[in-house]
Amino acid sequence: MTTPYITKTPKRPAPPASVMTDPVAGPHDATQLPSCWRDVVDALGAGIDRLVLFGPPGTGKTYAGLTVGDVTGGAYRLICNEDMTAADVTGHFMPTADGTWKWLQGSVLKAWEGDGVVGGRVVADEIDRASGDVLSLLLNMFDNVESASWQHPDSAVVHRPRPGFSVIMTTNIEDMRDLPVALRDRFPVAIRIDQPHPGALARLSPYLRAPAAAAAAAAKARRFSVRSFMAFDRLRENGMDLERAAFLIFGDHSKDVLDAIRVDAVSKRPTKKVS
Ligand SMILES: Nc1ncnc2c1ncn2[C@@H]1O[C@H](COP(=O)(O)OP(=O)(O)OP(=O)(O)O)[C@@H](O)[C@H]1O
Ligand SMILES: [Mg+2]
Repeated sequence: MTTPYITKTPKRPAPPASVMTDPVAGPHDATQLPSCWRDVVDALGAGIDRLVLFGPPGTGKTYAGLTVGDVTGGAYRLICNEDMTAADVTGHFMPTADGTWKWLQGSVLKAWEGDGVVGGRVVADEIDRASGDVLSLLLNMFDNVESASWQHPDSAVVHRPRPGFSVIMTTNIEDMRDLPVALRDRFPVAIRIDQPHPGALARLSPYLRAPAAAAAAAAKARRFSVRSFMAFDRLRENGMDLERAAFLIFGDHSKDVLDAIRVDAVSKRPTKKVS
């Protein structure tokens, strides 16, 4: 007979949902966040433990998955692609220097185990790219805590997620109907992230923040992510000429982006008092 992985787990209180502390940008007051990010904080604060964040690239979906809400059990990233195998999800044996084999735990199993007391978080990125076999495995592993289990091929120990285990899936696809029905069904809450997180914008020089927020939310043909502005910022900080840096990063759209930067700078300039 196999022993269940978990017996009894004391429940820890979740951190207050209204204030989230960002390791880079400091504390954010959730009431000041763009509405999509407020939804994320509120959903996690209300106990939602299966969440999809979808929408344009570079807005902070993965970063939020790894940091927002209760991640005391640890947060583990699983980047899905066509070549990924079950080994990435559950684990695999690796040869060691002394000729023996060692089991290397996969991301989902690590998150099931968490900190040994409560389950951790899996951030499954680009979930739409997972192949059929891996998807079936994930469907089982992302099921509720009572149903999910996995038997280790060597020890035959049955593993189960510890209570508190949570999953955040991220994707750039825009229509949730493009996700397999069974997967969607396990993730009833899907939030479209259409604004970069203020913490991501805070990484930019102040003069780039408003133009970057606008460019991230623009229509697809004119959209640039915060990552592009980070790269632009770096080129400028390293002394590259404004026009050249803009052309390298924004190509044919460089003139529009520079206009946006200039217009924003002018609109923020204090108006002279007329005596
Ligand atoms: N809250 C934040 N505080 C500080 N930096 C952030 C924050 N959110 C995102 N970033 C930074 O912004 C960049 C983009 O973030 P992230 O990778 O999470 O975006 P994404 O929405 O997952 O993008 P994609 O859809 O392309 O995977 C990263 O460099 C990340 O470190
Ligand atoms: Mg991502």
